[in-house]
Amino acid sequence: MASTFQVQVVATTPYSDQKPGTSGLRKRVKVFQQEHYTENFVQSILRSVRYPDSVVPEGATLVVGGDGRYYLQDAIQIIIKIAAANKVGKLIIGQNGLLSTPAASNLIIRRKADGGILLTASHNPGGPTKDFGIKYNCRNGGPAPEVVTNRIYEDTKTLSEYYMAEVPDVDLTKLGTQTVGAMEVEIVDPVQDYAALMRELFDFERIQEFLRVYKDQFTVLFDAMHGVTGPYAHRIFTVELGLPESVLMNFHPLSDFGEGHPDPNLTYAHELVERVRQESIQFGAAFDGDGDRNMIISHDWFVNPSDSVAVIANHAARFPKFRQTGIRGVARSMPTSGALDLVGKALNIKHFEVPTGWKFFGNLLDNGDIDICGEESFGTGSGHIREKDGMWAALAWLNILADMSLNAQKLITVREVVAEHFHQFGRHYYSRYDYEDVDLDAAKKMMAHLEDLTASQALVGTAVNGFHVTHMDNFSYIDPVDGSKTTNQGLRILFKDGARVVFRLSGTGSHGATVRMYLEQYESDRAKCFQDVPQVLQPLIQTALQLSKLTEYTGRSKPTVIT
Ligand code: G6P
Ligand code: ZN
Repeated sequence: MASTFQVQVVATTPYSDQKPGTSGLRKRVKVFQQEHYTENFVQSILRSVRYPDSVVPEGATLVVGGDGRYYLQDAIQIIIKIAAANKVGKLIIGQNGLLSTPAASNLIIRRKADGGILLTASHNPGGPTKDFGIKYNCRNGGPAPEVVTNRIYEDTKTLSEYYMAEVPDVDLTKLGTQTVGAMEVEIVDPVQDYAALMRELFDFERIQEFLRVYKDQFTVLFDAMHGVTGPYAHRIFTVELGLPESVLMNFHPLSDFGEGHPDPNLTYAHELVERVRQESIQFGAAFDGDGDRNMIISHDWFVNPSDSVAVIANHAARFPKFRQTGIRGVARSMPTSGALDLVGKALNIKHFEVPTGWKFFGNLLDNGDIDICGEESFGTGSGHIREKDGMWAALAWLNILADMSLNAQKLITVREVVAEHFHQFGRHYYSRYDYEDVDLDAAKKMMAHLEDLTASQALVGTAVNGFHVTHMDNFSYIDPVDGSKTTNQGLRILFKDGARVVFRLSGTGSHGATVRMYLEQYESDRAKCFQDVPQVLQPLIQTALQLSKLTEYTGRSKPTVIT
């Protein structure tokens, strides 16, 4: 490869729309393909990490990779050229540009890199007319905090030139180290380090034994949804755990995810859901495009993500990692149900409620306050990395099922694990209604109406359709570690006896608005823990719609997705 190169100084004009959202800059591919658009943003990233608490780019090591979506290869070649011209020391890149988000986080941590550039729009569809994304992660392996993303954004507004090495494209298929001028480019196997980490965290031998003993009864199916987890699932579930390849579906990464929507929920992962039901499969798991989200189901049960993290936390002592010490604390995002809080109380450990967004767990994890955390948006994880981790969640469930079944000397099913949980804690009935592609103005007006209701506090102390309003607010959070304050995180209406409604606008969309309505109702009567969710929640749903005037404002009478 080139041993020296010319640096091209390219004059550019700033774009005004490069403000990173909840998870980096996420836009249509066409937007990134505009002249200088991607180059500007990458240059601004490198200029903005030139501050204390991060490193100057000179000599820095950065991890680069993405979920396989359309435009990934182009973006990586741009990053290589801009990084070389900015005197970055080394890039660690997944082979063929692939790295799941959890694997990228792991590489940043294990290889002591200074940060990483993750190329993903997560669970959003991919392809020439769909979405792409660029996200910066810091040296703790987690998404950059707002101080850093704001700095990047400020920089994009004034950028007048960027630097590019005049070099040919790097061959991303070839494992090993190449050089671009003084910069090293190491192409790594995207799975190896990650699989090694999973082996440390979970009891692979016990899972293998369980899969062997119950191979006729315990059927499994994993759906990679044509995202990046295919190669990870292949290595871990077939090569390491000895399952046949037939347990994997959609495990070849495709740049358009097979024209699918790689979001593991009951709507978009319907292919898995149907097969699991038809074939009476005991354990099904799906992962999103970049591998950080997960859905766990069985033929007779859908594990709500809020319950999933609570179950995992409650059984964490079964994992080798926590066998001696137990877990120190747990945390959930505000819209996630309170099921995890009850586990925290029962284990007599700390429990936290943070705003939506995995980055809010970062300080608590870094500070050793918590070991397990999760969100209703199909995110579950622990302190092993600084991203949520879909494969980790599936392995956690397998470890739990293996340990319980081998101890009981009979197969314990997913439904039985959940039933035992409800028996111990009661049940948080939960549902989320998503109204996608709503007119932004209409959505804002609806939120403003709810703000007004909240500000007046007129409803507090009154009953609406028999629901007694005890509290209304716009959720805000003070980080207990660094004292930073985050406001405006969703409108909450709390009712007596543990019912709750939350409204917020999605922060991850690339256009229009998505209104999210979160519904939760606690049931302590153990005899009433196996009722139909929509039926139980119906009165609360009606009340939420009535109070928000959602249909009136948005014109929507039905949600796009229900989870
Ligand atoms: C991403 C983040 C999650 C967050 C979710 C919320 O997936 O990584 O931490 O929960 O977005 O998305 P929303 O669309 O509700 O803002
Ligand atoms: Zn994702």
